[in-house]
Amino acid sequence: LIKAACIAAVLAVPSVAAAQCDDGEIVVKFAHVTNTDRHPKGIAASLLAQRVNEEMNGKMCMEVYPNSTLYNDDQVLEAMLQGNVQLAAPSLSKFETFTKVFRIFDLPFMFKNIDAVDAFQKSETGQKMLDSMQRRGLQGLAFWHNGMKQMSANRPLLWPSDAKGLKFRVQPSDVLIAQMEALGATAQPMAFSEVYGALQQGVVDGQENTWSNIWGQKFFEVQDGITETNHGIIDYLVVASVDWLDSLPGDVRAQFLQILAEVTEERNKESTAVNEAAKQSIIAAGGIVRQLTPEQRQAWVDAMKPVWEKFKDDVGQENIDAAQKINM
Ligand code: LMR
Repeated sequence: LIKAACIAAVLAVPSVAAAQCDDGEIVVKFAHVTNTDRHPKGIAASLLAQRVNEEMNGKMCMEVYPNSTLYNDDQVLEAMLQGNVQLAAPSLSKFETFTKVFRIFDLPFMFKNIDAVDAFQKSETGQKMLDSMQRRGLQGLAFWHNGMKQMSANRPLLWPSDAKGLKFRVQPSDVLIAQMEALGATAQPMAFSEVYGALQQGVVDGQENTWSNIWGQKFFEVQDGITETNHGIIDYLVVASVDWLDSLPGDVRAQFLQILAEVTEERNKESTAVNEAAKQSIIAAGGIVRQLTPEQRQAWVDAMKPVWEKFKDDVGQENIDAAQKINM
């Protein structure tokens, strides 16, 4: 039994992590939870590692651990503060215990598309958010885009009332819990890696996520269909610990941050196309995608938007106003 466990442990080590780090190189472990290909975060993480390993050879060496192979998102930030992992890119919904400023990104129907999210993040208000957790030892380095969220369940969702009484998996965010409760549904926070099994076994009835995550995790296989609601967003914060950043020699830090900024710019431009391709892959694989009529969509807006009121004070009315101005 022990032998079997050892072999399983060896097999569990992801091959992509086996970057050949040399003596004297600063090793950067980057842990994330999604798949690597055909996913905005997976592609960006791989590109970042590739460029760091080529251009900073001898100085820095990056190992990427995708698919929750090193940590789940609910463990990774604590592990980072302990110095066990240097880089992560959890979704903005996963920072609740560190800061409430990112709650604005979870409010339903706050942003009409990723371009609006991009403009908000690039504004002074958005850029200030990168520094919101310094006191807690974390530094935001960049926002990475995923895309708009869609809803799915074990029965068709066309009107908000179709969600009544169902249990939805959500990321660990009070806003998302309130959003599901506004539909008369219940919410179950759960790690990303557990969602497929929970849907399959009926532990939860439905979920919300982006096309690339629904495709990457094959949620469509265990759901009745996906409704194109575009009701919210999933975006990421690339984050490191303040201590680790401070420990880097100035020139190494500057080169690393420059590469990160370039990868961010390059890949964020492609995120919408990556999600569109994932949507087409779902359809090609036999997944059902449902569209809403304008009346149906308005009913979802009317049902979910009252949630803003509850979080207005956390998020700041001035930030909501700034976001809405961009959204026009
Ligand atoms: C989720 O937990 O659904 C997402 O945050 C996963 C991810 O990183 O896209």
